[in-house]
Amino acid sequence: MVGSSIAFLCASNSLDDVVLLNRTKSKAIGEAMDISNVISQTSNFTVRGTDDYQEISQAKVIVITASTGVYLKNRTEIISAQVEMIKDIAKKIKTYCMSPIVLVISNPVDVLTYFFQKETGMSRNSVIGIASSLDSQRFRYIISKNIGVKNTHITDAWVFGEHGDSMVPIFSKTKIKGKNLIEKINSKQKEEITKEVRNYWRTLRKFKTRSQFGIAKNTFDVIKSIIKNQTISTPASVLLEGEFGQNEVCMGVPVKISSSGITEIQSMELNSSEQDLFQKSAHTIRNYIDSVY
Ligand code: LAC
Repeated sequence: MVGSSIAFLCASNSLDDVVLLNRTKSKAIGEAMDISNVISQTSNFTVRGTDDYQEISQAKVIVITASTGVYLKNRTEIISAQVEMIKDIAKKIKTYCMSPIVLVISNPVDVLTYFFQKETGMSRNSVIGIASSLDSQRFRYIISKNIGVKNTHITDAWVFGEHGDSMVPIFSKTKIKGKNLIEKINSKQKEEITKEVRNYWRTLRKFKTRSQFGIAKNTFDVIKSIIKNQTISTPASVLLEGEFGQNEVCMGVPVKISSSGITEIQSMELNSSEQDLFQKSAHTIRNYIDSVY
């Protein structure tokens, strides 16, 4: 339901025309019919459902949420099938579409962002994996809950690296009312917060089959910044070419996004333990990439 939720947000906020594409055409049409009813009287945008890539040939933004199955314990469980799928989608987008900005949501997102970029040869600035912003949102939520501080008092709660167990919450930058978070918490609290952020999706799955709204809103925010050309600063997965000391890997880093996609990979000074964890995270993703090559 992630694709539909994103489409719902785009339509209800009168952002632009939306096309839902699914290999099962009837499913796409059904969702499009339902979402069409949120279009306001002041908007002429449309929502359509299709199984035909030609219908998205003019798309400015393409969001990939497709999945070949359900993973239970780890996002990389069905990695081979997912990589095959993303290569197939990449070939079709390359054949039919003009020059879209592609947002990859499907998991394992860092690995799939990498293979999509390699398969299409598109500029790395136009192939963006969305997940670290969701992880950062969860980081802020858990700090607020565990430390007992207001959500609105927490700033710069970033999570970088893999959208997986090696993700790196950046405690050294996080502020509570402008003061450093690390001065307020002990190492046990830090460990607990890290564990909770990494396992958030597993905890959620005890109650609901898949997460949906958080990732949808984070994706919508990026689509909006592209369509309206309003720059946003957010962590997202992108092919690194030397930034943060990494090459040949896609992973969550702070970026600026506007109408042309990623306009800047922001540099940020991490402390030595964060640098170490970031490097380990890069290594983890690269191992997954190598495992399917
Ligand atoms: C999650 C999915 C989007 O973390 O990977 O909920």
